[in-house]
Amino acid sequence: MENRNFIVQGDICWCKDPQTLETRAGAFLVCAGGKSAGVFSRLPEQYAAFPLLDYSGRLIIPGLVDLHIHAPQFAFRGLGMDLELLEWLETRAFPEEAKYRDLQYARRAYGLLVEHLKKGPNTRLVIFATVHTPATLLLMDLLEESGLVSLTGKVNMDRNSPDILREAGAAASLAETGEWLEACFSRNSGSGYKNTRPILTPRFIPSCSDELMRGLGDLRRKYRLPVQSHLSENKKEIEWVRKLCPESGGYGAAYDGFGLFGAAADAPSAAPVVMAHCVWSDEKEIALMAGQGVFAAHCPQSNTNLSSGIAPVRHFLEAGVPAGLGSDIAGGVHSSIFRAMVDAIQVSKLRRSLLGLDEKALSMEEVFYLGTAGGGAFFERCGMGRAGSFEPGCDFDALVIEDTDIAAPFGLSIRERLERTVYLSEERHITAKYVRGRKISR
Ligand code: GUN
Ligand code: FE
Repeated sequence: MENRNFIVQGDICWCKDPQTLETRAGAFLVCAGGKSAGVFSRLPEQYAAFPLLDYSGRLIIPGLVDLHIHAPQFAFRGLGMDLELLEWLETRAFPEEAKYRDLQYARRAYGLLVEHLKKGPNTRLVIFATVHTPATLLLMDLLEESGLVSLTGKVNMDRNSPDILREAGAAASLAETGEWLEACFSRNSGSGYKNTRPILTPRFIPSCSDELMRGLGDLRRKYRLPVQSHLSENKKEIEWVRKLCPESGGYGAAYDGFGLFGAAADAPSAAPVVMAHCVWSDEKEIALMAGQGVFAAHCPQSNTNLSSGIAPVRHFLEAGVPAGLGSDIAGGVHSSIFRAMVDAIQVSKLRRSLLGLDEKALSMEEVFYLGTAGGGAFFERCGMGRAGSFEPGCDFDALVIEDTDIAAPFGLSIRERLERTVYLSEERHITAKYVRGRKISR
């Protein structure tokens, strides 16, 4: 068993809440049993026997959280970027995802993805796989081996998709999901998976029949499973959902009607739901999300690439919608949540100026919060540890950043160094990456 009791020393920076960035120069961050015991300017006596790792002069920040990524789409990132969502799904995403029926192909493609993710700044991810159970379990095995923490979903889709990918009806899709869950639960027991869990994954309303959605709602309640899907991403998609669910009173309300949205009043401890995009969510949908604690995964790069629009993140924050950031590979091209932070700031400025709004653009503190503790809260709600911060009791997910070559000829504060890291850092600047107190890279 490796030692998960140690101390790192360096220039430490983390979010306490969306507005408060804490910084401590030359401080000590204690890892006790894989969890943060706090940040100290002078080391308390009780930790004197813990080994000290000296990262003096380097930045130490929480690991980043990707709330929305499609694992099988990594292989074709950067292609088909002249298309809008529905065309892009038909011509790029669905044909590529169909290849994961072949386990050899899945092994090669998912192997490349997991190696890539291990070296990057993200420590936790919420992942769409494909409809295929064997390939999804293979991906989960690779993720568990990597040391990253993840929630991964076998995708459900039984309509409006090509024959090569579509499941043969609601009953077949639900039976396959049951088998996949059994396999996950046996891997989650005993000495099996420690960092890897399943999440229910209806792709989106257009690709799931009402019967399938209701069946997934039943599975959610039966096993207290978290759920991920897509919501109000693109105008044509929303119009399609309106036709498919004319009675629902809206896209979010349609998920709610199937028992696949927030915590129902009679089950407040239900596992959480994360909805990607929410670009066109109106006040009513935002209020429904806030009231039921549904998470929004803001994916600014994807929303730009697929011409979807700019999500009203300021409204999410003001209304109390729990939110984080997503790469949405391969609507987004870059996996790094540093890049999502920059994109989130930039599109919030465009939204403000293009719509002539009296609405503040997102600040560096706010996007850093969204990409760390904001997304980390989803894992906490799933019972996978508090994440994305160094407050005592949080899982010890940390990045050590060597930023001397992005330093300046004048002195920089830790906050300024963080800002430059968010905008300019590259993979080579990550000197060490820890997840739950275990060093998984460098
Ligand atoms: N909506 C349904 N499927 C997808 C997908 O794969 N990517 C994105 N961006 N939106 C979707
Ligand atoms: Fe997506």
